[in-house]
Amino acid sequence: MSNSSESNVIFRAAAGGKLQGHIRVPGDKSISHRSIMLGSLAEGVTEVSGFLEGEDNIATLEAFRAMGVQIEGPADGRVTVHGVGMHGLKAPTRPLYLGNSGTSMRLLSGLMAAQPFDVEMSGDASLSKRPMKRVTDPLRLMGAVVETTATGTPPLKVKGGQKLHGIDYVMPMASAQVKSCLLLAGLYAAGTTCVTEPAPTRDHTERMLAGFGYPVERRGNTVCVQGGGRLTATKIDVPADISSATFFMVGAAIAAGSDIVLEHVGINPTRIGVINILRLMGADLELRNEREAGGEPVADIRVRASKLKGIRIPEEQVPLAIDEFPALFVAAACAEGETVLTGAEELRVKESDRIQVMADGLVALGVDARPTPDGMIIRGGRIGSGQVDSHGDHRIAMSFAMAALVASGPITITDCANVNTSFPGFVALANRAGLTLQAEIV
Ligand code: S3P
Repeated sequence: MSNSSESNVIFRAAAGGKLQGHIRVPGDKSISHRSIMLGSLAEGVTEVSGFLEGEDNIATLEAFRAMGVQIEGPADGRVTVHGVGMHGLKAPTRPLYLGNSGTSMRLLSGLMAAQPFDVEMSGDASLSKRPMKRVTDPLRLMGAVVETTATGTPPLKVKGGQKLHGIDYVMPMASAQVKSCLLLAGLYAAGTTCVTEPAPTRDHTERMLAGFGYPVERRGNTVCVQGGGRLTATKIDVPADISSATFFMVGAAIAAGSDIVLEHVGINPTRIGVINILRLMGADLELRNEREAGGEPVADIRVRASKLKGIRIPEEQVPLAIDEFPALFVAAACAEGETVLTGAEELRVKESDRIQVMADGLVALGVDARPTPDGMIIRGGRIGSGQVDSHGDHRIAMSFAMAALVASGPITITDCANVNTSFPGFVALANRAGLTLQAEIV
């Protein structure tokens, strides 16, 4: 079991159904994390609405409370953050426990490296296996003193009181978490910190810094900040998370007779790989009422069932859909012909090894799915009945729940407690939309 609590959750999904109606999935996880971080360091009071009340974001919120920030809520997606300014955080009296949340740990490592106090950060069994060298190596180049285990995994011990200096860093992988970590450290570093990405990744940190009045410079694939600036409190309206909407987009695309509208979904161009890929597969997706909310583009997305075809997924779409592949693999399993994914080795170091775990689950359901070192080859066909193990990975659990819409019999999914890390209320919303899904505590 991948989470530390004693009980866990099994999903039992009945076969069949179609998705209908208008639904709003919870707030964007990436934007919610950043709203707490920047709100805490700002001068003044930041009001957040649409905040994702998932366990990952609560871990970030509690970490800032433990460092002396007064935060009201969350209540109905509303959070009020009483900013303490760039230099107002206090030493926590205990290690910061960040649960399953890689984003919390990687972004915080950049901020913590610049504080005057020492901090230790730890996580659950899954987070304790995730690579941290990708942040500790460049942070050390900036002058940070930070320790991991011998294999580069958490816990992280950050020594305070270091003077950081800006660097010009070319990231070896396309990672928004690494980019954001270094930009956050760069707010405190002497001189300029520049990060170059091999391919575009989500730019919520850059957008939100600008929203808090902090100048950010972008030149092509390079983004730079000057240290020593200030953040000014603002209002943040968090859109619905396109990564959570994805399960319903895929479910509606594959289940005959479906017609669903997903409301107020963030369609930031660095996040819409799932829309681009599903359209290439022949999905019927319509963006309606495109508008802007709090510096981020949003739209309502209508999805109707259609016949999908297998494709070779363009590699440039991979970082733009990095969290959506578990669901996209289910779409591929329902498509006519072969779908080939390459250039996605990052999937092996997510909350689980998403290539292996998805391939194992699909094979258990009778699908022809062959994992490769950096992707998967899936031949579409029938999805059978059976039991799959989500390995405590929220996105894998929800993806297989959607597969039941077209399965020949029920699907049982084990180790699903972590769905609460990103999508509290998933089971109720899925049932409202047309799934027949039960969560059983074991
Ligand atoms: C995130 C970046 C991505 C993504 C994660 C959230 C972020 O991780 O998978 O769920 O909020 O910056 P990587 O930077 O490791 O690709």
